[in-house]
Amino acid sequence: MEELHNVLVIGGGGREHALAYSLHTDALRLEKQGERLHSLYCLPGNPGMAADGIVCLPGDTLDFPRIREAILAHDINLVVVGPEAPLVAGLRDYVEGQPELAHVRLIGPGKLGANLEGSKIFAKQFMGRHGIPTANFTVVTPTTLEAGIQFLQGQKAPYVLKADGLAAGKGVLIVEKLPEAIQALKDMLEGKHGDSARRVVIEEFMPGQEVSAFALVNGTNYQMLPEAQDYKRAYDGGKGPNTGGMGAVSPVGWFHADGFAEKVRKRIVEPTLQGLQEERIPYLGFIFFGLMRSPSGDPYVVEYNARMGDPETQAVLPRISGLLEAMWGIANGQENGSHRIHTEPSGTVCVSLVSGGYPGAYQKGKRIQLPPVANSHCKIFHAGTSLENGHLVTAGGRVLSVCGFSSRIAEARGLAYGQIESVHFDGMAYRHDIGEGALDSEH
Ligand code: AMP
Ligand code: GLY
Repeated sequence: MEELHNVLVIGGGGREHALAYSLHTDALRLEKQGERLHSLYCLPGNPGMAADGIVCLPGDTLDFPRIREAILAHDINLVVVGPEAPLVAGLRDYVEGQPELAHVRLIGPGKLGANLEGSKIFAKQFMGRHGIPTANFTVVTPTTLEAGIQFLQGQKAPYVLKADGLAAGKGVLIVEKLPEAIQALKDMLEGKHGDSARRVVIEEFMPGQEVSAFALVNGTNYQMLPEAQDYKRAYDGGKGPNTGGMGAVSPVGWFHADGFAEKVRKRIVEPTLQGLQEERIPYLGFIFFGLMRSPSGDPYVVEYNARMGDPETQAVLPRISGLLEAMWGIANGQENGSHRIHTEPSGTVCVSLVSGGYPGAYQKGKRIQLPPVANSHCKIFHAGTSLENGHLVTAGGRVLSVCGFSSRIAEARGLAYGQIESVHFDGMAYRHDIGEGALDSEH
């Protein structure tokens, strides 16, 4: 196997901070064990990463020539892609097309594989072809509106409508009344929700409990990472609009009970990888399985993503070590046994601090009061911050991810919320119930 040199993480949010931090921690451990130091770079990164010793390179995640330049300038041979947009836009395909980058390993699928996330229609039809459990569905385009209405009439409330393409978390509508669902379908097909919604998946509503599961994949070779629960709604008690994620908890107490984790691997993860192989879709990267556990205890796929989750990553990665070796090993075609990710039995509770108004309109540029974190059982990942004249200011809807770690979820929760008391910016908002009532793992 070739030797790992330096590592580049693409992105600049909370997920990328957690990824770079985890890989940096692994690199420092390996250096202590006598390996050369693998430096961590991030493009564009954020001030939190810079404070952790990760070198932030200016640039845009969709500027592929700039990424190429950064790889060559810093002797990088492992690239980890955080967000979906560069994957769906074909970053891997671009890198593979550059002869000078032939030595580079990239964690993230090419355009074809990223379709699992980039096209809901592709994902649903893929699951259909490979017998992977998911909600019944139909595809509607402007020419099949009547058939779409008939399908809706045959469903029970609530009605689930999804835009085909990427829609930054705003592509799913769950509607209570049939006339509203029909109207929403017409609006989507007419382009009122953007071009990505001119093709629509309508599907059956699945009751149950949601969980996010993650695999690091190369072909049919894979390793599971710990699971997490995402809190998607803006307000306490699961009320309010959908967001990118107001917090996350890992582990999820019931995930390993009653053989559920095993069902996920056998019925969902392995058939997915087998299906990709049968369809000759190469896949090296993460697959995020958005799952529903039905009332009878069976797993169903809500959605696939071609990347890790945000904020789930901030809850999952502090629980593991060895991701760097696992990535390098799997990217170089090693079987799983050689570099297993090590999972700590501890738990994480991670709370998103957001700008007032999020997920609607919000202001940026608010000064952030953020004293250093003294407790080794807490960590604050930066999600949307920037430096303005030397001051840390807000630069996004989700600003910070505040995490607490402990063997007991209730204690991890206390640590995270305790840490939040020292943080302030104008308009700061957060949910107060992240991890409330969450059970410790039965595993
Ligand atoms: P997605 O963007 O596909 O993750 O959908 C956003 C959220 O809508 C999911 O996290 C679920 O909470 C919910 N959802 C999506 N599809 C369904 C479904 N078929 N049944 C129940 N809830 C769903
Ligand atoms: N937290 C959900 C996502 O990353 O899509």
